[in-house]
Amino acid sequence: MAVKPGLQKKGIGGKLIKEGLKRAAEPGFESAIVVGHPQYYPRYGFEKASKWGIKLNFEVPDEAFMAIELKKDSLKGKKGVIELPQPYMEC
Ligand SMILES: CC(C)(COP(=O)(O)OP(=O)(O)OC[C@H]1O[C@@H](n2cnc3c(N)ncnc32)[C@H](O)[C@@H]1OP(=O)(O)O)[C@@H](O)C(=O)NCCC(=O)NCCS
Repeated sequence: MAVKPGLQKKGIGGKLIKEGLKRAAEPGFESAIVVGHPQYYPRYGFEKASKWGIKLNFEVPDEAFMAIELKKDSLKGKKGVIELPQPYMEC
């Protein structure tokens, strides 16, 4: 996600996150993950994915890999490795 520098700090990023999560929840997605700023995404309910034993298939700081339950307890008892495709890792 990115907001054009001149338009940052006007709430656009927050709205994109909230709308994105809403649109993911509507068709039934139960959770979402993000690799991002650890001081930013927790504002919207994201927590460290390691809390649920979820890992990534490449190295990132623990606090930068986050997840959120869109349905209550949907990540409870879930463990595993999220496999992001190669182009993502080349970014
Ligand atoms: C991160 C980003 C998308 C936020 O968009 P935005 O429209 O400015 O966000 P909002 O207006 O909803 O929120 C602004 C708040 O987020 C904070 N914030 C922005 N970037 C942050 C960061 N990297 N870490 C912590 N807080 C951050 C701002 O300080 C501001 O705080 P305040 O409300 O206390 O003043 C935008 O800064 C951006 O495009 N950054 C460059 C690209 C990037 O880093 N993308 C994220 C990849 S994970």
